[in-house]
Amino acid sequence: MEYRINCTSSAQVLVIICVLVSLSCAQKAEVESAPCDISRNDDNNLTLNCSRRSLSHIPEWPVQITKIDKVSDAHVLITFFNNTISNVTQLPALPGRIAISFKANRIVEIEKDAFGDVGRLVYLDLSKNLIKGDVLRGEIFRGPYRDNKYNNITLETLNLGHNEIHSLDKDLFQYTPNLTRLYLNNNPIEILDHVTVLALASATNLEVLDLSKTDIATIPLHTFKGLTKLQQIDLSNNKFVTVPESLSIVGNSLKYLTFNNNPIVELNDDSFIGLTKLVELEVAENDYLDEVKRNTFVPLTSLRVLHLCHNGNLRYISRSAFRGMKDKWTLKEVYLDDNNLSELSTDLMPWDKLEILGMTGNSWLCNCDLANIVTAQGAGKKFKFGEIPYCAAPMRLSGEYITNITVSFCPTFDNTFTSKRSFRIGDLKPKHVLWSIFGVTVVVAIGMVLGWIVKAMKTVYKKKIKKTQPIRYINLNEDSSFA
Ligand SMILES: *[C@@H]1O[C@H](CO)[C@@H](O)[C@H](O)[C@H]1NC(C)=O
Ligand SMILES: *[C@@H]1O[C@H](CO)[C@@H](O)[C@H](O)[C@H]1NC(C)=O
Ligand SMILES: *[C@@H]1O[C@H](CO)[C@@H](O)[C@H](O)[C@H]1NC(C)=O
Ligand SMILES: *[C@@H]1O[C@H](CO)[C@@H](O)[C@H](O)[C@H]1NC(C)=O
Ligand SMILES: *[C@@H]1O[C@H](CO)[C@@H](O)[C@H](O)[C@H]1NC(C)=O
Ligand SMILES: *[C@@H]1O[C@H](CO)[C@@H](O)[C@H](O)[C@H]1NC(C)=O
Ligand SMILES: *[C@@H]1O[C@H](CO)[C@@H](O)[C@H](O)[C@H]1NC(C)=O
Repeated sequence: MEYRINCTSSAQVLVIICVLVSLSCAQKAEVESAPCDISRNDDNNLTLNCSRRSLSHIPEWPVQITKIDKVSDAHVLITFFNNTISNVTQLPALPGRIAISFKANRIVEIEKDAFGDVGRLVYLDLSKNLIKGDVLRGEIFRGPYRDNKYNNITLETLNLGHNEIHSLDKDLFQYTPNLTRLYLNNNPIEILDHVTVLALASATNLEVLDLSKTDIATIPLHTFKGLTKLQQIDLSNNKFVTVPESLSIVGNSLKYLTFNNNPIVELNDDSFIGLTKLVELEVAENDYLDEVKRNTFVPLTSLRVLHLCHNGNLRYISRSAFRGMKDKWTLKEVYLDDNNLSELSTDLMPWDKLEILGMTGNSWLCNCDLANIVTAQGAGKKFKFGEIPYCAAPMRLSGEYITNITVSFCPTFDNTFTSKRSFRIGDLKPKHVLWSIFGVTVVVAIGMVLGWIVKAMKTVYKKKIKKTQPIRYINLNEDSSFA
């Protein structure tokens, strides 16, 4: 019954909504003769929404946009997201600071000087198209021809991700001196060939470079030569078997490195050589990584955040992985979640100096070392809310929070002991146990014999005293039989 009632009432609501929608549509119909929506967020901020309109070519700009009031500092966003445009023809002139997105179209061709009239194009998104390397010639990003030469354009962000690029023209960036962010992710680059390297090396103001999922296995040494401002690089989902040595060339500027899902098997003292300015490092989802060797992180003298997680086979982190950093410790956040770790050395790092520590999703062996790290050295206070790791072993502690373990046989926790080897119940040999039992038995036996002798002497003594001293003193507290 109830179900029926609900049904009818929602049907009524639907009818009302439909009527309202069709009314508003009818009202709007005249206004929407232009294919795109213009919205004005404030005086200086316009959006032209041409998304999802089945456009196969670029339309004329609506007059509202070509007559922006404060021409110089207006911000205009134009989006052609998810249409079927295949040919980017020369865009009509536009005033203001422009951002254009052609994301998710079918672009196979870009005309030369396509963006030359767009006064100040600062952001261009060409991702998710069918662009091949030979389409990307230097002349497509050229400014207007004046004073017998082509001028530069203001482009700062260029997204070429998810296309079909194998190689870049060496002159691609000759008219874009201010290019700071370049996304080349998800392209079948495979090899950074000579011309591609020349192209990258010419983008000297680059700060952000995304080379993830490009199937590359190496980066030639001189690729980053001259990129003195490069701060952030993503090399994830590639075929690197080592962290590329060429990164050390940008060691004086690089702050963020993402190195996920590559077929590396170990990290060692060569991995991060020269990266002295690195602030944040992410090494995750590297399924073949099984060991972090000694001195691995030592070159990273500015590191604040380390994500070393989701490496399903990572079983071992050398106790000296951070050696030499401890005097000038900079790390604040360390995430070791979802690896295959079971033990950590007590002196791996100065645990109390961390702000956040992640350890969930490993098979922790809850032994004295771990108890020391968590309890005595305060690591247990650094876990995020609701992210307390569990013990996997020994059996009787399995499933307990590692912050819950108090191992009674461990020596008194004190930081002075941390460098010494902790005592384990397993260290006891059967020989030791037998000797201990024997020792205790001897002590007990001697004690009993002495006890009898003393008792016998007392009896004799008391009998003698009783005769001369008739009053007995009884300790009320000790003699319960008195009550
Ligand atoms: C334009 O306005 C939108 C919405 O208020 C805002 O999100 C965006 O940051 C603004 N853009 C600029 C460049 O001011
Ligand atoms: C742009 O227009 C499309 C189609 O009308 C709509 O789905 C989308 O939400 C709009 N986007 C913005 C940011 O208004
Ligand atoms: C674009 O729109 C089509 C339907 O017109 C849809 O099938 C497709 O998934 C959309 N693409 C993206 C990237 O959203
Ligand atoms: C792209 O458009 C221009 C101008 O309309 C035309 O000359 C050119 O042939 C077109 N290219 C392709 C591949 O359609
Ligand atoms: C590049 O940026 C600088 C500083 O913001 C600016 O003065 C210069 O005009 C820009 N160059 C171009 C070609 O836009
Ligand atoms: C972790 O290592 C053990 C062997 O020590 C192995 O059996 C197990 O499959 C590994 N776990 C994962 C998630 O790889
Ligand atoms: C941790 O200890 C508390 C209090 O002793 C107990 O209530 C809780 O069940 C324990 N939790 C786990 C997961 O061991």
